[in-house]
Amino acid sequence: MPLDTTFSRRLGLDYPLLQAPMAGETATLALTLEASRAGALGCIGAAYFTPEKLRDTIRALRAGTDRAFNINLFMPLPWSVDPSRIAAYQAEITRAHAELGLPAPDMPAQIEESFDAQIAVVLEEAPPVFSFTFGQPSAELMQALHARNIYVIGTATTVAEAVALEQRGVDAVVAQGMEAGGHRGSFLKPISQSLIGSMALVPQMVDAVTIPVIAAGGISDGRGVAAALCLGAQAVALGSAFLLSDEAGTSTAYRAALQADGNSETSLTKAFSGRYARGLRNDFLLRLEGREDAIPDFPIPNALSRPMRQAAAKQGKAGYLSLWAGQAVALARPEPVAAIVQRVMQQAEAILAKA
Ligand SMILES: Cc1cc2nc3c(=O)[nH]c(=O)nc-3n(C[C@H](O)[C@H](O)[C@H](O)COP(=O)(O)O)c2cc1C
Repeated sequence: MPLDTTFSRRLGLDYPLLQAPMAGETATLALTLEASRAGALGCIGAAYFTPEKLRDTIRALRAGTDRAFNINLFMPLPWSVDPSRIAAYQAEITRAHAELGLPAPDMPAQIEESFDAQIAVVLEEAPPVFSFTFGQPSAELMQALHARNIYVIGTATTVAEAVALEQRGVDAVVAQGMEAGGHRGSFLKPISQSLIGSMALVPQMVDAVTIPVIAAGGISDGRGVAAALCLGAQAVALGSAFLLSDEAGTSTAYRAALQADGNSETSLTKAFSGRYARGLRNDFLLRLEGREDAIPDFPIPNALSRPMRQAAAKQGKAGYLSLWAGQAVALARPEPVAAIVQRVMQQAEAILAKA
């Protein structure tokens, strides 16, 4: 029984399936292209891209496929500079640098990419789909995106966030359950009040908004996809399920950590970026566990920890990497992207046909 929904038909997808945005080393052109070519909605997590790289990537995606694809950015967050928290964090990074044979860290000249410059490229290049996390665009930006015929997807971790995003005019909303790998998209309440599991979040969000709800978080095979569709989701976004795909940029050390026996325990941590994200529990995460209040605001730690993470990836030392992963990451398989899409959707279709 082929599955389709209003959402998948609207975007011309073969399946109501998204390869979830994943910024960082994982985000390759090949991953996104193969996901879109396989009939899902491929996505580039472009938050750390320079405007030039973003433009080249959108053009390469357009040249590589006639299918829809999605460009994802982080909405800018206000952040403050607290010298004492920065000094304490720098001391941790200095220790890690010494262990990795690196010189003491400097404060990078550029802390984050300019959202204004990135979004200007999105508006100029007009990808079929634009998605975002960490907040909501201004009404003017929403209008500008729609004027370019861009389909807009927001990220919500609570029902109230989904309602706010619908009122702002997004076309669809991701229900990001607390099981999800990577950063939490929460923007209305503190994280401690925004941790709802997908099973509870999806149906309540479906009842509260009229736009399509996309389930994300802790879904890594066809059983999860079938369950989410039964809960009323119009589509499902898989992140962790693609981390071991042949086309993902996941480093060798990251892949090994994901596949180590009994190593799928994850925690929410601010250790690497200053904003809560879910990843495998490793040495650097444990060093800062319980000291979250002393960590500087996102994105300062993200910039300060980058040289450590890059060197650790080269040296094969997973203890210093941000090993983002969701609670169902142990179900991920090392396969080509197209095989993952097909395996997951065949399983979901078979389950739903029986049901
Ligand atoms: C490595 C990694 C990086 C991520 N980066 C982003 C991102 O840049 N933007 C975003 O909206 N979500 C990001 N996420 C969250 C995913 O889009 C999605 O919500 C999550 O992976 C779903 O849960 P799952 O990992 O259990 O499938 C990331 C997740 C992972 C695992």
